[in-house]
Amino acid sequence: MLKGKHIILGICGGIAAYKSVYLLRLFIKAGAEVQVVITPAGKEFITPVTLSALSGKPVISEFFTANTGSWNSHVDLGLWADAMVIAPATASTIGKMANGIADNMLVTTYLSAKCPIFVAPAMDLDMFAHPSTQRNLQLLKEYGNLIIEPAAGELASHLVGKGRMEEPENILKAVEAYFRSTQELAGRHIIVTAGPTYEKIDPVRFIGNYSSGKMGYAIAEECAKRGAAVTLISGPVGIKAKHPSIKVVDVESAKEMHDAALAEFAACDAAIMCAAVADYTVENPATHKIKREHDELPVIRLKKNPDIAAELGARKRTGQVLVGFALETDNERVNAAEKLKRKHLDFVVLNSLNEPGAGFKTDTNKITIIDKDGTERNYGLKDKKLVAIDIIDALVEKL
Ligand code: PMT
Repeated sequence: MLKGKHIILGICGGIAAYKSVYLLRLFIKAGAEVQVVITPAGKEFITPVTLSALSGKPVISEFFTANTGSWNSHVDLGLWADAMVIAPATASTIGKMANGIADNMLVTTYLSAKCPIFVAPAMDLDMFAHPSTQRNLQLLKEYGNLIIEPAAGELASHLVGKGRMEEPENILKAVEAYFRSTQELAGRHIIVTAGPTYEKIDPVRFIGNYSSGKMGYAIAEECAKRGAAVTLISGPVGIKAKHPSIKVVDVESAKEMHDAALAEFAACDAAIMCAAVADYTVENPATHKIKREHDELPVIRLKKNPDIAAELGARKRTGQVLVGFALETDNERVNAAEKLKRKHLDFVVLNSLNEPGAGFKTDTNKITIIDKDGTERNYGLKDKKLVAIDIIDALVEKL
């Protein structure tokens, strides 16, 4: 998967820098060409001689080579790379990347890079949890970087908590998964539902939920990146689809989402039902704003909405793949398995609101994929963009 790919491995000054040697070896073994860029502090932890011996290239650290006067072009490097992987990424470098403090080769290269950037933080648990680190990481995510979440465990300080750099094998997997996500869905038409639905109470109020659309939009982007034509049926959200192969159909209510999904389903190869659809709607929404001054408290009567996934499941023809989500708070696996069966899904993506960092609004999610053949795959907490890669890998297997 990485054969011939150009990878910049950015190494910062943290004890986890020793793991970067293993990561470098894994990249080289996978066939990648690797250019190491190390911060001055990084060189205190790991010697450039080791890194250049393994990569077969001089390690870049300074802007200028003192004895020749030649200089390293961060712009050329940024354009050369197919991916940049910063591992370990320290709190200091994360802060500089978030704020454009370009005082070393690693950060200038980062600012010039046009390729996907993977950031694998490594630091002490309190540094990682500090609001400034979290805010900087949030900014990096918003800039489109892919954060490879640190693991929890014993740290160099002997304290136990979250902050340990993800293992090199898993970083390699994340990068490989990114490159696998190329054009394998070319010629396919995929429907994705995303976001919440709003059920009108009166012209100014509605019943809704906390879905931000982040998970569904990440799935739609991933399908489009792999070559699919995507119809994204989206409830009201504050984000926009970026890929030109995504056609967005904006809807508000579950009924509108239902009608849009049914209109597209016959001609699609797969449908991924990520939207948080209201199960109930208001029987008689008021045509005028309900006033506070009424003597009697208003009563809102509800009726059932159509179950969109179940209807598509009943219409599914041979060769079509239907993927559902299950958002659970208790009895997770039993409920997910029940939805899988009742809605005739090919697999269900279970996410639980009991898992910190999973579910609504967060940039991360933690999922279990349960297949109709009974097999189960568990994944760690990841950026929703990386979760989308795992889900689409499973979809590609089915297709
Ligand atoms: O948007 P984010 O903030 O990123 O959050 C992502 C998410 C938590 C919304 C997403 O990961 C998720 O779990 N989506 C499904 C939420 C949900 O409605 O789950 P459910 O267990 O109630 O529904 C089961 C399945 O049936 C889902 O695929 C749902 O889209 C579908 N459904 C549900 C009700 C209905 N009337 N029609 C449906 O099609």
